[in-house]
Amino acid sequence: MRKFLLSALAATLVVFSANATTDDFESWVQTESQISVTRLNANISPAGTRRGVILASPSTQEPNYYYYWVRDGALVMRAILDRAMAGDVLAQNQFKDWVSFTRENQADAVHHWGNLGEPRFNADGSVNTEPWGRPQNDGPAARALTLIRYANWLLSQGDRASVARDLYQAELPARSVIKTDLEYVAHHWQDRCIDLWEEVMGRHFFTEAIMMVSLREGAKLAIEMNDPQAAKYYQQVADQIEDQLAKHWDPSKGYYLSALEFSAGPQHQKPSQLDVSVLLAALFVEQPVGLLSLMDDHMIKSANALETAFASHYPINAGPGDLGTAIGRYTEDIYYNGNPWILTTVAFAEWHYRMAAALQANPRMILSSTQAHYFSTVVSKVAKKTVRVNAAALDADMHDTVVEALKIHGDAYLKRIRSVTGVTGHLAEQFEKSSGIQTSARDLSWSYAAFLRAAEAREELK
Ligand code: NOJ
Ligand code: NOJ
Repeated sequence: MRKFLLSALAATLVVFSANATTDDFESWVQTESQISVTRLNANISPAGTRRGVILASPSTQEPNYYYYWVRDGALVMRAILDRAMAGDVLAQNQFKDWVSFTRENQADAVHHWGNLGEPRFNADGSVNTEPWGRPQNDGPAARALTLIRYANWLLSQGDRASVARDLYQAELPARSVIKTDLEYVAHHWQDRCIDLWEEVMGRHFFTEAIMMVSLREGAKLAIEMNDPQAAKYYQQVADQIEDQLAKHWDPSKGYYLSALEFSAGPQHQKPSQLDVSVLLAALFVEQPVGLLSLMDDHMIKSANALETAFASHYPINAGPGDLGTAIGRYTEDIYYNGNPWILTTVAFAEWHYRMAAALQANPRMILSSTQAHYFSTVVSKVAKKTVRVNAAALDADMHDTVVEALKIHGDAYLKRIRSVTGVTGHLAEQFEKSSGIQTSARDLSWSYAAFLRAAEAREELK
């Protein structure tokens, strides 16, 4: 515990978090993190695959995920970046491999398809030509953003040479990996495309959010790398995307609609348009302020609407105990019979940890009524009695209480994951909505990466 919490309420929360199971839980998070690293590494450039490939999963049938997906790769490499930054040499080498591999498959995608919207490649690195939902334009944007974060880290280490050589050059037509992706994003953001779940053609919050931030942060990198014209252009496009993003807000429903102008097949009906991808986007883009920040009123309302919908949707959520709500992609989902997913449930843990961290960093923050209302709900759940957090500056006691409650509530989601994870610690894609048995692709790279990001966010709170 960081400091003594003074109020009676804070003391109650401390008792909750200090009971006998806490130590077990702490050590479980450690163990599961180590397992996640091991399993993730096993999916990166395994024997018989092209170096730099990140397999979505080693599963070759039902479902066959023995491919490299650009989106999964970008999200997974964000977790690997944490390790690289912490000095892990293997992770640093994985990054170098991924950069070379990316250069190759950008060229291959353009050569074969004429664009970068190709969602997946074969394990040997070759272009995949099976029928599939194309294009998926979140991929290049997500990849650019992870590479930009990598470039920023190299720059902070004084390694400008590597960035200039391997990642960003001002030349056009672009050949450097980041600029190649940014040019594609800037020129194609208006195209309708297939969503991250590979089901719906339309304009997607997830895709647009990542496009916008990749261009904004790309613009900063462009300035750094003596490409001011590009910086200006990327900024202008980002502004336009931001206007488009805001259109997803539905005031009558009270949440962001995941897609606009969409056409979905009969298999993929989503009348609610309430989809966890909105929160996944916000977690991935890491914006401290603005529309995509994790404490933005609309983001809180959207996430809260999702939680409420899933809480009554899956039988497993009616079970006893203090486990966090099992969260899926969207309630109408029928893929594998429509189940909660590990990465989406873990995302709710990460969300609460990161809000706690943001509050810790800003103790004088003035709360909006939406924030105050949401924090009241969380504190009340944790304290098991009604507590009101007022919409104003938090006094020191209440501030600590909210931070502590957000952490405990975040832990509840990880405890949900623990409850469906055996001692081996394997994480698949989904767990069955009644039995909790893991299902669909085993050892999903994205599940492990999501777990590591949540554990990292939790670590920052200590
Ligand atoms: C595979 C996709 O990756 C998954 O997201 C989708 O739900 C199913 N195909 C059904 O279209
Ligand atoms: C299905 C998911 O819907 C999609 O987002 C993912 O890229 C693939 N599985 C591979 O993990």
